Amino acid sequence: MKKVLAILEGDGIGPEIVREAIKVLKVIESKYNHEFVLKYAPFGAGAYFSEGSPFPEKTKSVCDEADAILKGPIGLAVSEMNTIPKESRPELGALLPLRKRYDTFANYRPVRLPKELASFSPLKESIIGDGIDIIIIRELVGGIYFGDKTEGPSTGMKYAKDECPYTDEQIRRVAIVAFEEAKKSNSKITNLHKSNVLATSRFWNEVVDDVAKGYPEVSCTSLLVDNAAFQLVINPAQFNGIMLTENMQGDILTDQAGGILGTLGLMPSVCVGPKKSYAEPAHGSAPDIANKNIANPYSMIGSVALLFDKCLGMGDEAKDIDNALFEVFKKGFVTRDLNDGSGKKKELSTSEFGDMVVENIKNS
Ligand code: NAI
Ligand code: MG
Repeated sequence: MKKVLAILEGDGIGPEIVREAIKVLKVIESKYNHEFVLKYAPFGAGAYFSEGSPFPEKTKSVCDEADAILKGPIGLAVSEMNTIPKESRPELGALLPLRKRYDTFANYRPVRLPKELASFSPLKESIIGDGIDIIIIRELVGGIYFGDKTEGPSTGMKYAKDECPYTDEQIRRVAIVAFEEAKKSNSKITNLHKSNVLATSRFWNEVVDDVAKGYPEVSCTSLLVDNAAFQLVINPAQFNGIMLTENMQGDILTDQAGGILGTLGLMPSVCVGPKKSYAEPAHGSAPDIANKNIANPYSMIGSVALLFDKCLGMGDEAKDIDNALFEVFKKGFVTRDLNDGSGKKKELSTSEFGDMVVENIKNS
């Protein structure tokens, strides 16, 4: 299969972890006889400084012409963000416009920790039980992140306002993705909301309940999101299956999920649109550990596997990558973020981790 892939390396640890994902693309390309044409383009804070825009026109063309996009995390340290005008900052000037351009409304964020890796989690092994295996499906192009934003007035009492609009269609289509996924994998759905306060949440539930009528074989229960945040720590495995959420709740809960796994470096994701999708880790650019060859590239490599599986019809290749990733851990190797200092684990650099994934794929 021939695929043109836009490669947006991003900022901070982005280029380091994207490099490891490219190694994996190359080995899959030769093992499965595919052809991946890679087109690099600037995106994020680095692009703002070098090109004057965080999402330059030439990057838009590269992405428009590609079959899919691999995107590293973008952004500066929060303290450095003031050096860029508000509208050109990585999230507002690049990330949200990318999502909008390709209407990538369904964001898959798996939260996986097999029983034998329970020691990665800060939670007790008894709480991890038989392992965590959740996919959080987050609506990605609606709600408060995309609603109108106003600030004012320049004199008098100042205020700021973020609107949180959702249409029936926006909720319905992501709910259908969740129900289809649940039907395929024979799993249940936990639908998250804040309907005791928010009108958008009450509407969300109304539409989800309506979609549920078309899937009598899928069990779907609803839970207030604050309770879910609590339960996710007390007993995460009770959610094994699918958690369906709106945009901002999903953003926050998926970072919490990374904490439960022991690191955001274990959080891959794929953002799926009707025509084009892109792979990106669930985390940010981790400026605190950039350029040290210590970041965990699992999240970026796992995002490629998700893109293969959910969007490019390459399920076998995706399984091969997933197995190779977990194999590294099962052999007792970890990256810095998962090294508990007990001396029991052997620490790998970012590039050594990528090399070992490649070897595992070659040998499987
Ligand atoms: P962050 O997610 O970059 O980092 C949070 C913590 O997790 C840090 O301690 C970091 O070292 C660690 N971490 C993250 N990924 C890791 C990995 N692969 N391996 C090992 N450790 C890892 O969040 P932070 O520091 O709040 O944000 C940094 C920048 O990223 C900001 O500019 C923010 O706006 C941006 N950001 C960009 C996103 C995107 O591109 N989609 C998403 C989230 C934040
Ligand atoms: Mg986030």
